[in-house]
Amino acid sequence: MTVIAIDGPAASGKSSVATRLARRLSFAHVNSGAMYRAVTWEILRQQIDPSHPESIEAAVHRMSVDSGFTEAGESFIRINSEMPDLELQTLEVNQNVSPVAAIPAVRSLVNTQLRTLAEKRPIVSEGRDIGSVVFPDTPYKFYLDASPEVRRQRRAAQGLHDSIEKRDKLDSSRANAPLKIASGAYVIDTSHLTLEGVVDKVAEILSKSGIRPA
Ligand code: CDP
Ligand code: CDP
Repeated sequence: MTVIAIDGPAASGKSSVATRLARRLSFAHVNSGAMYRAVTWEILRQQIDPSHPESIEAAVHRMSVDSGFTEAGESFIRINSEMPDLELQTLEVNQNVSPVAAIPAVRSLVNTQLRTLAEKRPIVSEGRDIGSVVFPDTPYKFYLDASPEVRRQRRAAQGLHDSIEKRDKLDSSRANAPLKIASGAYVIDTSHLTLEGVVDKVAEILSKSGIRPA
């Protein structure tokens, strides 16, 4: 099993960097945040109160879930036969995903999908706890960061309505798998780097450990 773990706060560049890195290395890209968003979207679709952990836990136990890879090597998750896409970035999902992701039953559902996908192909997986909890034994761990101001500007430039500071606070302070720098992770401040600059830096570090484009 080969897993490159990329963690960090919102808008630090995880998805953009992970996608490009995966393409360069011919690895698959696994976006764990999209899985937490998909569960949140399904909870909202079922009109379950997102602030009621017991109801969410019961709904999670009833969910039929499967995941896999698209032809382009991107992970997908299907919940109760639905595969949300653009809905995942809505304000409603942004506002509710952190409380939903704090629930142990939700984390356990996502972790099972992530570990199953990693058995199938070499992956670049990004999120909050990929290096610290989901794949603690991988030797390839990165933590991307950027100043709050830069991250706010990036989201605004994307035209997305997001409450990144609120999410970061909730994600860092929860008891279960909080956002933190995994032991052994390379920390990269991306505030003043271009996307390609970050990918080059990660690729250079990996190549020293023998992970290179085929
Ligand atoms: O792209 P962005 O960094 O804004 O968020 P995301 O990666 O799509 O993750 C959305 C939310 O899912 C985060 O704010 C966390 O609450 C949760 N998440 C998590 O708890 N653990 C992960 N490994 C990935 C995401
Ligand atoms: O996945 P995460 O929320 O950490 O960040 P993202 O969605 O990959 O990136 C947020 C935005 O910042 C995207 O529009 C990127 O193009 C931009 N950006 C970046 O991620 N890193 C840089 N060094 C420069 C810009």
